[in-house]
Amino acid sequence: MGERTIIVIGSAEVAHEALIEKGREFASRPRENTTRNIFSSNKFTVNSAVYGAEWRALRRNMVSGMLSTSRLREFSRARMRAMDRFVARMRAEAASASGDGGPSVWVLRNARFAVFCILLDMTFGLLDLDEAHIVRVDAVMKRVLLATAVRMDDYLPFLRPLFWRQQRQALAVRREQVDTLLPLINRRRAILRDIKQRHSDYDIDDVVAPFSYLDSLLDDLRVEGRGDVAANDGLLVTLCAELINAGTDTTATAIEWAVARIVDSPSVQARLHAEVMDHVGDARPVDDKDTDAMPYLQAFVKELLRKHPPTYFSLTHAAVQPGSKLAGYDIPTDANLDIFLPTISEDPKLWDRPTEFDPDRFLAGGETADITGSAGIRMIPFGAGRRICPGLAMGITHIALMVARMVQAFQWSAHPSQPKLDFKDRVEFTVVMDRPLLAAVKPRNLSF
Ligand code: HEM
Repeated sequence: MGERTIIVIGSAEVAHEALIEKGREFASRPRENTTRNIFSSNKFTVNSAVYGAEWRALRRNMVSGMLSTSRLREFSRARMRAMDRFVARMRAEAASASGDGGPSVWVLRNARFAVFCILLDMTFGLLDLDEAHIVRVDAVMKRVLLATAVRMDDYLPFLRPLFWRQQRQALAVRREQVDTLLPLINRRRAILRDIKQRHSDYDIDDVVAPFSYLDSLLDDLRVEGRGDVAANDGLLVTLCAELINAGTDTTATAIEWAVARIVDSPSVQARLHAEVMDHVGDARPVDDKDTDAMPYLQAFVKELLRKHPPTYFSLTHAAVQPGSKLAGYDIPTDANLDIFLPTISEDPKLWDRPTEFDPDRFLAGGETADITGSAGIRMIPFGAGRRICPGLAMGITHIALMVARMVQAFQWSAHPSQPKLDFKDRVEFTVVMDRPLLAAVKPRNLSF
């Protein structure tokens, strides 16, 4: 493609060779264009760092600081707060839209906002941001995604001078990103200072969270060659933005497909709802501990990620050193190695009725598929091997909880104003529904 060699892997065998058998050889990332280097502070993020000590330090910090099982449990209150707000927002939207073909909600927009709230909360630990403020931060993050989208000059660098306007715009968006996130960083810094000096009267858990990702960057992160990360505002902005971006659109996209499947199949919806009623009932909201014990919900989430992986491709890999081979071919170090996920998770050699959406395939006695790929690759919506998504457990927890809360709070159906539901998709950073889903909702009677 232009001046770049792009190698697309579309089979489970070769993906296994690249990510597991020769995982160390292909664990790097390719060089970036200048725009993306601005937003990654020259590859100083977990996802963009080349394989080596810097990547290891960043990834270890993100996992132990935020994404480990124990940390994930600690953030259960942030999730519950965001879920309550999510359901309340949808109730309000449904009520205000009731004149126009019955109560309805735009699914992706609401899901995206809910996930964004959780991640903002986890990143900065500031719990009193009002909705207008959150919407402003979200708008800037979206502009960053647009500024870093793939461009023709990524492949044909000699065209770069023609893109000077976009380059100038990217610098302006970076300034805006810093101006938006830095005040949040500084506020958390001041709170931590106050707490340390013990003259704080902060209401822990109401105004500030006891812990945030930013705290791990300010306290523990040591990376050779990058100076004092805690004192470098640019690096802090970059790392905080990474955590928020990586988990927002991927999870929200999965929720839109989940609701489409629920609307499409009344029996799937009835079984999900019956499971929620059995385990929790309608006297209190579902929480993450409940969802772990719901086998049909877990099977539904797995089938969702098999049939609708939120991204077509894993992030691009690259060979660490010259001399590596894949499927017998030489792989140059400067080649992009992309793994195409749908051909694996719908491979008729690996799956029975691969194009059918059927959560039952994962229930007892049926299919087993190790989603991490280490015991054999059949579906890898989170990638596999050394660069596997560190947010895997968090992503699954968020999807399961949101689906459970959505069926607990509403009965879902197709909206009469919409054409017949179809499952055509389109790439918009993630793989979204081609026609955004507007669903009809009937609030259920809950006693909490
Ligand atoms: C349903 C939700 C999610 C999906 C489907 C997903 C998918 C992926 C995929 C396919 C990769 C590329 C793996 C590779 O390069 O081989 C990745 C990497 C990554 N994801 Fe996720 N992700 C999700 C949620 C999250 C969350 C919640 C976070 C953190 C808050 C996160 C953080 C990251 C990071 C930091 C990387 C880069 C890892 C590295 O390069 O070492 N993701 N994700």
